[in-house]
Amino acid sequence: MSTQTETTTIPSEIEQLRKDFPALHQTHPNGKPVVYLDSGASAQKPQCVIDTVSECYSDYYANAYRGVYYFGARIDEGIERSRELVRELINARSTSEVIFTSGTTMSINMVARGLGEGFFTKDDEIILNVLEHHANIVPWQMIARQTGAKIKYLPLTEDGRLDLDELPELLTEKTKLLSVTGMSNVLGSIPNLEQIISACHQNGTLVLVDGAQLVPHASVDVQTLDIDFLTFSGHKLYGPSGVGVLYGKETLLDKMEPMLGGGHMIDQVFQDKSTWAELPAKFEAGTLPIAPIIGLGKAIEYVRKIGFEAIETYEHNLLKYAHDQLQKIPGLTILGPGTEHKGAIASFTIDNLHPHDIADWLDRSGVAVRAGHHCTMPLHDHLGIHASTRASFAFYNNFSDIDALCEGLKYTLEKHRLL
Ligand code: ALA
Repeated sequence: MSTQTETTTIPSEIEQLRKDFPALHQTHPNGKPVVYLDSGASAQKPQCVIDTVSECYSDYYANAYRGVYYFGARIDEGIERSRELVRELINARSTSEVIFTSGTTMSINMVARGLGEGFFTKDDEIILNVLEHHANIVPWQMIARQTGAKIKYLPLTEDGRLDLDELPELLTEKTKLLSVTGMSNVLGSIPNLEQIISACHQNGTLVLVDGAQLVPHASVDVQTLDIDFLTFSGHKLYGPSGVGVLYGKETLLDKMEPMLGGGHMIDQVFQDKSTWAELPAKFEAGTLPIAPIIGLGKAIEYVRKIGFEAIETYEHNLLKYAHDQLQKIPGLTILGPGTEHKGAIASFTIDNLHPHDIADWLDRSGVAVRAGHHCTMPLHDHLGIHASTRASFAFYNNFSDIDALCEGLKYTLEKHRLL
């Protein structure tokens, strides 16, 4: 049992909310209760989302924007409702600025390719940093290779935050775009987006925020922050997999080329040329992930009912407790900044134990964590390690989950004769 102090009190509502997630009440084949600490990779789904997806398939399924009949109309209505829920979630000006994609990776690729050769030249520069997920590095490398643009990296502080003191130096008249994570998927570091965006905009530089990790944990207002592009995935936001979002300012999306051509994204098609549909259809070629979009709408309603203020406060307490307990494990080093600068992620290494062995042995205790490079090889190179173990939390985790993690780690150490 956890040694609960005032800051680690489990709100009774959390225990109530946990009941909404059937996967959290499963038993591991070894008889232990499942402890899910991999929400950074993908979050579990509440029953209401599962039911919404299931009802869509069983009660009124049809393709989107194609059927004038009853089922088709219900599907279109469901998709537009989800689009409006996304708009409210991020406070976009209009639903024209909300594009449904297959996920964050697709969304970032669509911006890189959509801006493309018309935007980047060989004299231009793009700023990234090593905290970024490969999905926010590789598409820029591809466009840089195609256009001759150069990629520069904003350095990190010693504790794994973006070193914003170095930003003015890096920003020049050549800097066309800076792409930055809202929250590192490994270190949990949360950059000061306000400061970054303001400095970039003063320089005439566009900013893309990869919100895959941030959006499930905090309220993000694209207008207040003046974000140019925001990308995130439904499956990390307690929604179904297969759906993501690309938000872009309408003026920018208007200038961008669609990455995918096909049905629904056209206005007119002739034998030799085509014209594009209005936003958001211009960027939604082919059949959309229909049921996942409708499920994402339900997930947003569910999360907003809990409220991001409550989620942030609770997850922060959870994180502080995790740091306190993990620091007691012999040989364990938590990567990245202190809890005041990060979201609900604790990645770590343990002397003389490989992260894959740690994850494998934790699984024997029923504890699910992720091990490896977490799609951040440049970050691991920077840290001088090949891999790490990551526990990532959600509001449905409780303090006992962290106790189970620490017990599992002690068991692993014992079995390896390190304790
Ligand atoms: N990007 C996801 C993660 O960090 C898959 O695990």
